[in-house]
This record gives sequence, structure tokens and C-alpha cells, in this order.
Amino acid sequence: MGRYAEQDRAVSEEGLDPERMPRHIAFIMDGNGRWAKKQGLARDQGHSAGVESVREMIRCAGEFGVGILTFFGFSTENWNRPRREVAAIMQLIVESLRGAVEEASAHGIRVSFLGRWDELPESNRQVIKQITEQTAGNDRLLLNFALNYGGRQEIVEAAQCIALDVQAGRLDPEAIDESLFASYLYTEHLPDPDLLIRTSGEMRISNFLLYQLAYTELLVSSVLWPDFSRSHFIGAIRDYQSRERRFGRTGEQVSSHST
Ligand code: IPE
Ligand code: IPE
Ligand code: MG
Repeated sequence: MGRYAEQDRAVSEEGLDPERMPRHIAFIMDGNGRWAKKQGLARDQGHSAGVESVREMIRCAGEFGVGILTFFGFSTENWNRPRREVAAIMQLIVESLRGAVEEASAHGIRVSFLGRWDELPESNRQVIKQITEQTAGNDRLLLNFALNYGGRQEIVEAAQCIALDVQAGRLDPEAIDESLFASYLYTEHLPDPDLLIRTSGEMRISNFLLYQLAYTELLVSSVLWPDFSRSHFIGAIRDYQSRERRFGRTGEQVSSHST
């Protein structure tokens, strides 16, 4: 997932700094329902329109060389929605992934999933397995979809697996540190997100990547997800690049380090 010269050029043309591009952007795609309501459409149509924004973000990542995108597609709490809406979302996931298998392969995109996707309906599991396997060797862009994902559940599951390994004598409790703990999470192979974008104005995390967001830059956009486009993506990166990431240090330490 190295950067390409044409990506650096595209970044510079937008007045952005190729040296300070986020490596990993996570999205809480929110506002599909409100978007649909505003247009006088059914909520399902908002979700369908939201898929187009996902596709647009993938194109942007390719254009500007952001190597990893993670999308929150369905939370463990979203099962509490009306059954009909849940079924429509599940169906939309199946259709979108089916339509994306060949395209992802052709563009060097690897598709991977976070969460208990093994508890989704059979048709979802099938296409998830298919796209994961068929794209496993690609490395131009990594896409993660969090499906039936909950941050607390992820942490609890990790704790359970660690406890089992200790009980079985495979793991010394003294060896449990932050990096070992992280290796038990769904994101074991991923760097933490540099930037989290949540659309539709809600200032909350909604149980997303609780462990991984410790030092992620947060950006809440008032734009509803189906309206989130290339110009908003560029604006979000501009905002990200204007910030100073300190990781607990003082501002003076950070600026002397970067010059
Ligand atoms: C996000 O849009 C999609 C999912 C959570 C699956 P919403 O459906 O939450 O849209 P609002 O928040 O009702 O507008
Ligand atoms: C978060 O959105 C989950 C996803 C984007 C999949 P929600 O719409 O479910 O979040 P809340 O309920 O407003 O916190
Ligand atoms: Mg919502």
C-alpha cells in the first residue's frame, strides 16, 4: 500500500500535503434515514443512496492514496431496528458485495470484515467469504466493513480469548501488554485509524472501535451520509492536516520534532 506518484500529484493539486496524508480513515456512515425523509423517500432508499457514498470514498482513496478505509456498516445495536429495515439492510449488503467482487479484484482492492459477521444471514456470510477469499492477495487498497460490530463486544471477546489462552497454559499473564491485547482484537492486522469521520452531526462514537480510537483525530460533519462526496473528503483531509497530533506531548515538543 505504498504511495504512487500520480496520487501525490492529485493530493498536491488540491493544496494538500502528500507527506501528511492519513494512512487509515474510519467512517461512521450516519444520516441515511434523515436523508431519505428529507427527500420524501423510504429509509431503505436512504441506505441504497448511502452505498454510492461508500463507492465515492473508495474512488477518493484510490485517487489520493489513502491505503486503508474502514466503514461502520451495521452495529450490534442496529438489530433493535424494525425487522423490515434490518432485512432490507442485509439484502443491500448482499447485493452491494456481489456487485463489487469483480470490481474490487480488478482494482487491486482487498476487502475484509470486522465484527461477528458469522452471525449474519447465510446469504451475507456466503458473499462475505467469497469477496474475502477472492481479494485476499490484493494490496493497493484495504477496505474493512464492520458488520454486526460492537466495540465493547470486541473487547470482551478479546478478554475471553486471552483468559482461555492463559488457562490452557499458552499465555503468561505477565506477557499481556497493549500490543498483545490489540492482537486479540478484530483489527489485529490494522494500524489504528488516523482520522474518524462521522456524518450527520452526531457527536458520539456509538460503540465503534473503542480501543483503537484512543488517539484518532475526530471529525464530525453535518452532511448526511448519502450527500458526503469527494469535496467533503478533501475538506476532511484539509482539516486533518491543519491539526497537531500530540500524543500527550506539549505543542513545543511536537513542532521541534517535525522541523
Ligand atoms: C446509518 O444511517 C446507517 C445505519 C446505521 C445502518 P441511519 O439509518 O442511522 O440514519 P439516521 O440516523 O436515521 O438518519
Ligand atoms: C452508528 O449509527 C452505526 C452505523 C453507522 C452502522 P447509528 O445511527 O446506529 O448510531 P446512533 O444510534 O445514532 O448512536
Ligand atoms: Mg443513525
